[in-house]
Amino acid sequence: MKNIVILISGSGSNMAAIVRAAQRDHWRKTLGAQVAAVISNRPQAEGLALAREHLIATDVVDHTRFATREAFDAELATVIDRRQPTLVVLAGFMRILTPAFVTRYEGRLLNIHPSLLPAFTGLKTHQRAIDAGCQVAGATVHRVTADLDHGPILAQAAVPVLPGDTGETLAARVLTQEHLIYPQAIADLLRNL
Ligand code: GRF
Repeated sequence: MKNIVILISGSGSNMAAIVRAAQRDHWRKTLGAQVAAVISNRPQAEGLALAREHLIATDVVDHTRFATREAFDAELATVIDRRQPTLVVLAGFMRILTPAFVTRYEGRLLNIHPSLLPAFTGLKTHQRAIDAGCQVAGATVHRVTADLDHGPILAQAAVPVLPGDTGETLAARVLTQEHLIYPQAIADLLRNL
């Protein structure tokens, strides 16, 4: 079985979309794949309860308990490796990862970023797109490399920026597309693994 491990920090709506797609499209049967665990760096992440509702194993590695980024990433890797992952999927995981961590999962580490990369790496992407006068915005699924938000692109979706949009309204429009392209990109990748 190809194990997918999903890392979250917050609401986990992308994680839930992946879990729903796995169930709806019978990934166990059709792809020989399953969501093996959901791991959060925040004990209070809303997504943890959502994962448990779907009977998915959860782990917490609380970054505030570690003195250094390296120590946190090392423990995170230990917890991830217990699930023998084929893919490690970042879904709203709000931590900068060390080069050692990225190298360890090279080729099987994915992220979704709420912009049309390579535009608007980093945070506050929606407001920055509005401020720049962009007429389209969107989301990107990409492989994770040591260069933050710069790995090879696997999938993108575009949405219009509408008059009167705020960061919040645009984020909500982009998020509906994230929920479509992330499960799709993962399924496409698993098919070829
Ligand atoms: C998404 O917009 C994702 O692209 C970004 O953080 C947000 C996470 O949302 N990296 P959720 O936790 O999946 O609901």
